[in-house]
Amino acid sequence: MIDLEIAKNVAIKAARLAGAHILEKQGKIKDVETKGIQDFVSEADKESEKIIIDNISEKYPDHSISSEEIGDIDKKSDYVWVVDPIDATRNFLYDVPIFAVSIGLMHKGKIVLGVVYDPSNNNMFSAYSDGGAWKNDKRIHVSEESNIRNSFMYFDGPGMNGLDEKGKEIASERLKDLSKIFARVRSFGCAALGMCYLAQGSFEGFLDLSGKLKMVDIAGASIIVKEAGGMVTTDKGEKIKSADDVFLASNGKVHKGLIDILGRHPFD
Ligand code: IPD
Ligand code: CA
Ligand code: CA
Repeated sequence: MIDLEIAKNVAIKAARLAGAHILEKQGKIKDVETKGIQDFVSEADKESEKIIIDNISEKYPDHSISSEEIGDIDKKSDYVWVVDPIDATRNFLYDVPIFAVSIGLMHKGKIVLGVVYDPSNNNMFSAYSDGGAWKNDKRIHVSEESNIRNSFMYFDGPGMNGLDEKGKEIASERLKDLSKIFARVRSFGCAALGMCYLAQGSFEGFLDLSGKLKMVDIAGASIIVKEAGGMVTTDKGEKIKSADDVFLASNGKVHKGLIDILGRHPFD
């Protein structure tokens, strides 16, 4: 196994450089393409991606990379860097300052390191296996709340990318019904930061309402949640095996209750 402290610093440097570039480009974007349903990719996504890949490849030339815009660079390595150069491109393009750079590292299929950088607030979330979860230079922990009814929930995905009209309708119905159960719910279209706020104890739970999140969206943040004491599974409490799984994360204390509720829900 490579030294994860060194790898974390490589990822942090790459995320910082990419984040600074993204901020520099904010409000000056000329080139926006559409991919899929209402899904955007801008020159800033591509440039951020290049900065991250160049930095990682310089230090780890033999490692594979799986990155949102360019896809896979397969070096037949046990190590795969999973990169989302801008999580929440739509927020970025519409001047909503809630977006992030997300970098995860998988070793033999298991995520062992994650870095999520929020350039608007200059917050760097990071974690590696057995090294704890950090926000800048402070340890972070999930909340202690164990009562579902008191829970503050992050829902990713109502009316989101990748859903057709029917899918949007179902996601909105689920949002409406599930919202009644919890103290408060939020959704701000940045899965990586939604999970990091769970890791720092702000939210009790995180649910991928549409089931459309991909590994690039959550790879970096999921180990940050786990190292902060939380859990990340499918909505049925199983180990995540593929991007088709519906992601559920929590502080651990409300996890079983969330799975029970989702299992009983008429739209499930
Ligand atoms: C998006 C964000 C968002 C989620 C979308 C993703 P992108 O990432 O993670 O929270 O709801 O499904 O596509 O496309 O801006 O990298
Ligand atoms: Ca994303
Ligand atoms: Ca992205």
